[in-house]
Parts: sequence; structure tokens; C-alpha cells
Amino acid sequence: MLAELTPEIVIQMQRAATLLQAAPRICVLTGAGVSAESGIPTFRDKQTGLWEQYRAEDLASPAAFARDPKLVWSWYQWRRQLVHDKMPNPAHQALAEWQKNAESSKRQLTLITQNVDDLHEQAGSTVTHLHGYLWRNRCSQCDASYNYESTNHESTHLNSSKDAIEFDDELIACPHCEGYIRPDIVWFGESLPASAWQTAEQAAADCDVFISVGTSSLVYPATGLAQLAKQNGATIIEINPNPTLNTVVDIILAAKAGVVMPLLLEQIKLL
Ligand code: APR
Repeated sequence: MLAELTPEIVIQMQRAATLLQAAPRICVLTGAGVSAESGIPTFRDKQTGLWEQYRAEDLASPAAFARDPKLVWSWYQWRRQLVHDKMPNPAHQALAEWQKNAESSKRQLTLITQNVDDLHEQAGSTVTHLHGYLWRNRCSQCDASYNYESTNHESTHLNSSKDAIEFDDELIACPHCEGYIRPDIVWFGESLPASAWQTAEQAAADCDVFISVGTSSLVYPATGLAQLAKQNGATIIEINPNPTLNTVVDIILAAKAGVVMPLLLEQIKLL
């Protein structure tokens, strides 16, 4: 695995490991790139198949759902079909192990994600979702939560129950108010869940090291977390094979998360 990295990245990784080993409080923000090696296309990857003609941004909005609820519902059912059999990759697994190690050594690793998949949970992480949950639904009118009849959505055995879901694109009427059921996901123009955002802001403001993994840093307010951490004296590390708009980065590890995360954890353990 180390051979996959350039000598420059190995040097930067050793710098990062030294800092992280000494850091009592770490905040990690993940984006779609952390699930890419699990086979889940990133948010801004070109869409495929019949969704090729659409941009995700044009479907993930209240206006799009009001205009054509069946189109938007079908898109999410297609995404669920795409995601339901995907498993955590070494990046998710390393983050879960790291978080457990931190807890047992009285340190803190707060994991915040922009992703709506449940791969962090499947890997065993405690994670705060800023943009909602692909596997949860709620009524678009009365907000009542709505889960699939045939499954019990505890993420512990979600995989088995997910296979029981029929991903048909029939719209579902809310049993309480006749509104249409929608995914419990934060759409463009909607506010983030207050408690999730408070957790994220607090962790970013308090941390000694902030790690941004697999995000293009295009979307606020999530992207502002790195800036908040920087303003409060944290060192900023970015893990992404491509350059991003994040302007406050101190250490760039320009490689895949599934390669970097396990090696970074190994390096920290060796110190
Ligand atoms: N490892 C690490 N990063 C990767 C990998 C990988 N294997 N593969 C791709 N990436 C990076 C890409 O270089 C890109 O910078 O992941 C990033 C994915 O960017 P986006 O597709 O923009 O996804 P994300 O940053 O999570 O989007 C943030 O925007 O539209 C909203 O709600 C949506 O949560 C989403 C948010």
C-alpha cells in the first residue's frame, strides 16, 4: 500500500501522523470520496443510465420534488438500489478503529459526514450526518417519519433488511396527511439539522487537528468547518486525490482515502 504513495506524500503522512498522535481532539469531515472505493459514485461524478441527463443538484431540491415528485422519488430509489449492497472500505474501517482507539485513550475523534449512505455506521463508527440519511424517509407535508413496511431500519442489520426493500418508484402517500413521502435528506436550499450542525461546529471549533476526507469543499456550510477549525488554531489536513477549493489546508495527502487512512492509522500506532 505504501508503495502506492509518492515519496512526497509519505513525508507529508509522517508529518500528519506526528501531529495526530499528539492531538487530544480530532475532527474528521467526510464527503462522497470516502465511499468512492466502496463503489458508490461521488455526488459530482457524472450520473449514469437514464439519470445521465440530470445533474444531482437539479433533483435534490424541494422545488424539484414539488414540480415532479415521482421523478425525484424514482431518482432516490435508483440511488438506494445502487447503494444497498455496498460495503465499508478500508477508509471507513480505519476511521472506526481510530475512533475506538481514541475513546480508549481518553482522546476524542468526532466524525462528521456529508454523506447520506450508512457505511460509516456499518464500519462501527459513531457519526453525525449533516445532510441526512438515504435510508430514512419522512412526509413532505407533516414531517412524520416513514420507514419501509418490510424492514426495521436499525443500521446494525440494515443490510439484510435493505435486500427486502422493493425499490419501485411508486409514490407513497403519508398515512397521516396524504402528503407524499420523501427521503429524509437535506436538499439544496434547506437548513441542516440544528443538532447535527451544533455538534459539527463545536467539534471543529474545539479540535487540535481537522481532517477533510473525500470532499470537493464546494458546499457550505459544511465547507466552513475547516475554516472555523483553522480560525481556532487547528492544523488542517486534506485527503483527496484531486485538488479542492479548500484554501486553509496545512497538509495535503493527495491520494485515495482507502489507501491513506489505514496507512495513517498504522503510522500513528508506530509513534
Ligand atoms: N478518496 C478520497 N477522495 C476522493 C476519492 C477517493 N478514493 N475519489 C474521489 N474523491 C474526491 C473527489 O476528488 C472530490 O473532491 O471526493 C470528492 C467528491 O466531491 P463531491 O462529489 O462534490 O462530493 P462532496 O464533496 O461530498 O459533496 C458535498 O454537496 O451536493 C452536496 O449534499 C451533497 O453531501 C454533498 C455535498
